[in-house]
Amino acid sequence: MSKELERFGRQNRELREELRRRIGSFLGGSDEGLTALRDFLFDELLTHARGEERHLYPVVGPLLCQEGTAMETMTMDHVAIERHIDRYAGLLADHPQDRVAIERTLVALEAIVQLHMDKEEAILLPALGRHPGLDPGRVLRGIQESPVRD
Ligand SMILES: [Fe+2]
Repeated sequence: MSKELERFGRQNRELREELRRRIGSFLGGSDEGLTALRDFLFDELLTHARGEERHLYPVVGPLLCQEGTAMETMTMDHVAIERHIDRYAGLLADHPQDRVAIERTLVALEAIVQLHMDKEEAILLPALGRHPGLDPGRVLRGIQESPVRD
């Protein structure tokens, strides 16, 4: 991996850690730093996202299609959803009195599910409907006929 890619990955990790730290501080009961959190979200996180949209996505999108890996980001969402469901089940079994942990897990789970389904409804399903050679009914029946648990 090139030095530039390593640096980009490091910057991503730093942003994630910073976000986790700042929100964790608030969830831990501290109201200090809320203004700084707002500034961080606008000035750093959103700026980073816009930069990716302008410079990274237009380059990588066609590459993923070419490689046949464009859907892996959606599969990663499913992995994250399953991880949160497992965490919730584990908390219910082992720490049912830990309301804070259960709340954090469920709020995170809901955010991931909402975003994931937004992507399916706004991007995937319309794409399926745009191609006359495909039978959307057959694809969707396949989903409904999938086993409840593998
Ligand atoms: Fe899905």
